[in-house]
Amino acid sequence: MINKDTIVRRGQFVQLKTEEGRLIGRVADVYKTNRYFMRPESVKEYQSSGKPMDDIFPVSDWEYLVADISAVGVYKGPGFGECLFPPSPGTIVVEPENEVLASFFGLDESGLYLGSIPHHDTDVRINLTRLLQKHLAILAISGAGKSYLTGVLMEELLSRKPEQGQIATVILDTHGEYSSFSRDPVFSSQTRIFPVSEVQIGLSNLSPYQLGEFMPNLSHVQLREIMKLMRSIRGKAYGVSDLIDMVEESDDIKVATRDVLISVLEELRMSGLFGVSDYPPMNELVRQGGLSVIDLSGTTNLRKKQIVAAYIARKLFNIRRNGMIPPYMLVVEEAHQFVPEQASKESAISRGILTTMAREGRKFHASLCLISQRPIQLATTVLSQCNTHIILRVTNPYDLDHIGKSSEGITSPVLKQISSLPVGTGLIVGEAVNSPLFVRIRSRKSRASDKGLPLEQAAAEYHKRVRQKIKDAEGFM
Ligand SMILES: Nc1ncnc2c1ncn2[C@@H]1O[C@H](COP(=O)(O)OP(=O)(O)OP(=O)(O)O)[C@@H](O)[C@H]1O
Ligand SMILES: [Mg+2]
Repeated sequence: MINKDTIVRRGQFVQLKTEEGRLIGRVADVYKTNRYFMRPESVKEYQSSGKPMDDIFPVSDWEYLVADISAVGVYKGPGFGECLFPPSPGTIVVEPENEVLASFFGLDESGLYLGSIPHHDTDVRINLTRLLQKHLAILAISGAGKSYLTGVLMEELLSRKPEQGQIATVILDTHGEYSSFSRDPVFSSQTRIFPVSEVQIGLSNLSPYQLGEFMPNLSHVQLREIMKLMRSIRGKAYGVSDLIDMVEESDDIKVATRDVLISVLEELRMSGLFGVSDYPPMNELVRQGGLSVIDLSGTTNLRKKQIVAAYIARKLFNIRRNGMIPPYMLVVEEAHQFVPEQASKESAISRGILTTMAREGRKFHASLCLISQRPIQLATTVLSQCNTHIILRVTNPYDLDHIGKSSEGITSPVLKQISSLPVGTGLIVGEAVNSPLFVRIRSRKSRASDKGLPLEQAAAEYHKRVRQKIKDAEGFM
């Protein structure tokens, strides 16, 4: 029985007293009913009499609203308990207070402020450790708000004070969407952008094993020859061209092996990624409380992007294991390109290290945040190591099915709702919350990316720019 003044909406939470404590339920469905209209024969009879039914009976007085509630759990003081006992029929149902909801779902007042619970004005503030220590996956169709949410998360991380615990963040930014942080008056001083054209991998700093990782097609024999050469010049600074010269000049390498090595090394040289020293240096890339964006939008070459991802991920992970850099989070946009489920070894250069990071990262406080619009193409082993998923709108039935299987605690009505979520609303599932929780992502405080401009605005701005160029040229003549 509901309190007369309570407004009920689908998805809203309610509470009622039971012997176990306060039962928290979610309105699974609401519908109106009226028994006057239950017998079509009577309705027809009245209609054919020419008079509306409510002229004869007080029909509208008999209309009532039914809300189906599914129990989520029991609130017994702070925290969450399983619901094992039914409430008595007739128990009054009321709206839960904000503090009760926050405590029930395990929210943290001093956590990361991501948004609010739909239909309630309860802030969704999530504890940093619970959200990130065991990795996060943000999944949804294109345009559902994944990057926007990541922007909100970044604002929260960049706004933390040293005593609250600040982490460093590195984003592998496939579309160049996060550069806007460097133009934001509040966050620009904490942000560094590194375009892919400036990234350099110091070949002489690489172990032969790491170089082998970038050339997954090499046979054992071919790899052994490269290792021999690298060992012979250990301690010296050299680039790919030097290595190619050495292969060409070596008399010990068989002709067939030599040709393969030269063509593979030539391919690495063409990528423009390899030099004699590293750029950016790790102390510039990882700064506590700072954001570094590796802007990969300057290349469409997937292999090149994967080499950068593999190199940065491995280096960060290794030096974090030695405690030389602060705890950090590596954000991977378009994660299915970097940790694909099905691709061959040769087209999944970064999969190995990202899988290792997913498995072992939490012990070293090296967190992953994987963002993807094709969860089904993301390596299942990695996705299952992401203990929190934030799922925005997903419509593809295969992706939905995959999510249903890989995210714990999602019931089928909840799964159904995911396909009709509005932009900017998502479901948090897993470690970060006591029970799956829908969240309306808050508005961004910082400059949003100009990559997401509405079509009209982008077209109008292009026109303005072209006109200005013509004007400038005319002025010059
Ligand atoms: N929480 C939100 N509040 C307001 N607007 C939002 C929100 N989330 C997303 N949007 C709007 O939707 C647009 C698309 O969002 P976004 O770029 O984050 O999508 P995406 O999921 O990252 O898509 P893609 O997979 O193509 O990268 C944004 O430019 C923004 O205008
Ligand atoms: Mg995006």
